[in-house]
Amino acid sequence: TEQAQIRNFSIIAHIDHGKSTLADRMLQATGVVAPRDMRAQYLDRMDIERERGITIKSQAVRMPWAAAGADGVTRAYALNMIDTPGHVDFSYEVNRSLAACEGAVLLVDAAQGIQAQTLANLYMAMEGDLTIIPVLNKIDLPSAEPDRHAAEIASLIGCEPEEVLRVSGKTGVGVPELLDRIVAAVPPPSGDPEGAARAMIFDSVYDVYRGVVTYVRVVDGALNQRERIKMVSTGAVHDLLEIGVISPEPVPTRGLRAGEVGYLITGVKDVRQSKVGDTVTSALAPATEPLSGYQDPKPMVFSGLFPVDGSDFPALRDALDKLKLNDAALTYEPETSVALGFGFRCGYLGLLHLEIIRERLEREFNLDIISTAPSVIYEVTMEDRSVHTVTNPSEFPEGKVRDVQEPVVRATILTPSEYIGAIMELCQSRRGNMLGMDYLSETRVEMRYQLPLAEIVFDFFDALKSRTRGYASLDYEPDGTQSADLTKVDILLNGEKVDAFSAIVHKDSAQSYGQKMTRRLKELIPRQQFEVPVQAAVGSRIIARETIRALRKDMLAKCYGGDITRKRKLLEKQKEGKKRMKAVGRVEVPQEAFIAVLGAD
Ligand code: GTP
Repeated sequence: TEQAQIRNFSIIAHIDHGKSTLADRMLQATGVVAPRDMRAQYLDRMDIERERGITIKSQAVRMPWAAAGADGVTRAYALNMIDTPGHVDFSYEVNRSLAACEGAVLLVDAAQGIQAQTLANLYMAMEGDLTIIPVLNKIDLPSAEPDRHAAEIASLIGCEPEEVLRVSGKTGVGVPELLDRIVAAVPPPSGDPEGAARAMIFDSVYDVYRGVVTYVRVVDGALNQRERIKMVSTGAVHDLLEIGVISPEPVPTRGLRAGEVGYLITGVKDVRQSKVGDTVTSALAPATEPLSGYQDPKPMVFSGLFPVDGSDFPALRDALDKLKLNDAALTYEPETSVALGFGFRCGYLGLLHLEIIRERLEREFNLDIISTAPSVIYEVTMEDRSVHTVTNPSEFPEGKVRDVQEPVVRATILTPSEYIGAIMELCQSRRGNMLGMDYLSETRVEMRYQLPLAEIVFDFFDALKSRTRGYASLDYEPDGTQSADLTKVDILLNGEKVDAFSAIVHKDSAQSYGQKMTRRLKELIPRQQFEVPVQAAVGSRIIARETIRALRKDMLAKCYGGDITRKRKLLEKQKEGKKRMKAVGRVEVPQEAFIAVLGAD
């Protein structure tokens, strides 16, 4: 396709605002998918995406569309739709997907209005100078309030309310008009077709049969079939086995030219060799400058993953190795815990990322796993000036601490105005600092806070939702670190530390954390033959205590006597039970008790 007839765009939308459904209608309207082949959410690859209804990985699809240009002459255009992940954890990937486009469709549910994450992505698109096409979706819904939300959007992006298109992904109404608008409003790509080849990687996906499939937008020059390509960030050279476009299945082509979007396959087996944000060039006549700075994904949230059944440890390692092939952001290293046995310390981009990994391990790999409470990265400076990076609370250094730095975020919360008070209270209780507040309309407010990341990873999102009956939305981005008055609380069972329960908390919350954990453990740990103290401690100072009373003698006596087979059975049963018991010093604790304590909130 001629460069002037190419339009590259993505759809920015909040989860559930109907992006996948609208994409389906576009595939149909452009004839890319025949009616008989149509299935819902055509472009969502992974089962887990379809079931959870979230799009994790971006991808691109080419659609032909004939439309009249400014001169009134109808021409054939190629529209490339580049999908963006919607969630804050994947904001670097969103950024790269947007960088591959000249336009963005801002899709907003006409019954709900714009949400915080959409706003964050919208600002990203505006910063990248993309043409924004505002669209209200689901106008077929009886609860839709298109006039109200059109006014809101218009004031946000600075257009007239009448310019906000109205569509329904369900009925297909307004979809051809939207495609026409994309042709008319989005500028064609502007790269240099004669320059040295430069293509940006905006996604890369591991496929069991084909190895890594890399999605690229060619900016300058061209990549041709069977040539050797080079990754600018690493200098690695690969043979191009296949190059092509997706429409809606992969179609090999002879190459991709400036402005085009497509995929390439080189036979590499690991997405880390084909990284999102990297620049691909030709190995023979390489470009010297990368397109933009490549950024390594940095894990922000950490937690321990342990198999419920210790013999699953090798299987867990295999599963993590496999997931890693498709997830450059996931990190893990072996970890041992007194309470939970052998497992891995894993690093994630954020909480959603953590949940997705956990769910995939359970669902795709059939593993029963338990994860410890999420933690962030602390930088601890001791009196002797030594500096420790701590991602695991149980490894918080002993001794005199001079300073602890914790990561902070800038959070944006969009809410109906009646919840302002409740949200301020919540943010205050989480050590938040208000940065500002703006009314988007008479009834909707944008609140901006600086908050410690540690306060968000716990259960902030749930607390926010429950205080605003689900109406508030949240987005956040890293904003450096701050010095904080933090301390480690240990939990002791009969004087022995239970590592999985150590936590780094603010000094003011140490007591309540200690009381909560000791109370819970007391309830869940069965009585032993001796009295067991359950304590919480800061250093050597005990800050909370409960006691598990000893079993009474006559209860033990019941186990003796009776006929021999019964006794043997009992013994065997006990042996079986033993496997699932973890010994903390002299105290035997069923693993279920640990799991219950970690699982509860
Ligand atoms: P993610 O993939 O999770 O980002 O969601 P999405 O934005 O792609 O939303 P999806 O297309 O899965 O739609 C979410 C829900 O809204 C589904 O139950 C759709 O059936 C419904 N829906 C989508 N578009 C419309 C519409 O135009 N009208 C009505 N009534 N429902 C719609």
